[in-house]
Amino acid sequence: MQVLVTGCAGFLGSHLCERLLSDGHHITGVDALTDSYDPQWKLRNLDRLCASERFDFVHAEVLKLKQRLVDDAQLIFHLAARPGVRTSWGPEFQHYLRHNVLTTQRLLERATLSQTPKRIVFASSSSVYGDTPVERVTEEHPTNPVSPYGITKLAGEQLCSVYANESCLEVITLRLFTVYGPRQRPDMAFHRLIQAALTGSKFALFGDGRQQRDFTFVQDVVEALTLAGHVPAHSDTFNVAGGGRVSMNQAIALVEEISGCRINVERQAPQSGDVRNTGADLSKSRAVLGYSPRVKLRDGLRAQIESMAERVRAASCA
Ligand SMILES: NC(=O)c1ccc[n+]([C@@H]2O[C@H](COP(=O)([O-])OP(=O)(O)OC[C@H]3O[C@@H](n4cnc5c(N)ncnc54)[C@H](O)[C@@H]3O)[C@@H](O)[C@H]2O)c1
Repeated sequence: MQVLVTGCAGFLGSHLCERLLSDGHHITGVDALTDSYDPQWKLRNLDRLCASERFDFVHAEVLKLKQRLVDDAQLIFHLAARPGVRTSWGPEFQHYLRHNVLTTQRLLERATLSQTPKRIVFASSSSVYGDTPVERVTEEHPTNPVSPYGITKLAGEQLCSVYANESCLEVITLRLFTVYGPRQRPDMAFHRLIQAALTGSKFALFGDGRQQRDFTFVQDVVEALTLAGHVPAHSDTFNVAGGGRVSMNQAIALVEEISGCRINVERQAPQSGDVRNTGADLSKSRAVLGYSPRVKLRDGLRAQIESMAERVRAASCA
């Protein structure tokens, strides 16, 4: 199948493309290599992909994508976005509007103009729920984002929904809960935590450490994305999470245990836009999507620690 993946050079996009290639698909991968973090990292994420004859890389913003590339694809995974809650306040918000809202609208518009029927799988976020009184949210739970980032992801979802209602375009939205694993973005907690363990640098812990997250290993997310590619539905929304809740204090202890290194924790005030706890009810995802998280936090963290240790070793030899 001809597949278009936006954000292919990012953390999730690069893992997804590797899976799609191993499943035998032809991929056009689009990425603007934005400066949200070092573009060299994103180029490295592409190394393995570009070695395949079935992968074409287009270095471009989705806003400027040629209609032909959208026409050719039967399935589109839309992952390109400006991620990150804390940096979505202040002047940076303009990037969130451009990359998360305008870009999504333009892609949907192009997809509906196309003559060939297609499906878009949209990477949304647990941030659309905001702070919730329940331990595990279902997809029916009211959305109430508490960060500008969450608002842009909700706007993306709503755009997907209106375009699906008004056209033949099929749109599946996945609400991803904190994803971790090899190649995780450098702004994310586990990346900073493991970096601190491996190098002795300080780890800034925001808040009291008792905040809980439903962490999801990247290969489980890749599985959910591929399932969303063919689930029988015109338009639907699913939670994608790891299935267990862990506090940041427990996560710190686990990284120390696996790495065998003490972490120098620097406690800082809670950050605006960070929710207290996240937790997903996966009943619908299990029943309809066929999704079931497989990777235990301990195993996933071990994989991320090993991959980051390799990078640290390579950097110290360079
Ligand atoms: N990582 C998580 O925990 C998580 C959780 C919830 C949702 N998500 C969503 O998953 C998607 C991927 O996240 P990630 O962690 O891999 O982020 P990432 O920053 O590693 O990847 C996003 C990629 O998109 C590219 N990009 C951004 N705007 C673009 C544009 N307008 N045109 C072309 N390319 C563009 C960037 O250069 C980057 O390579 C995002 O939509 C994010 O909102 C991620």
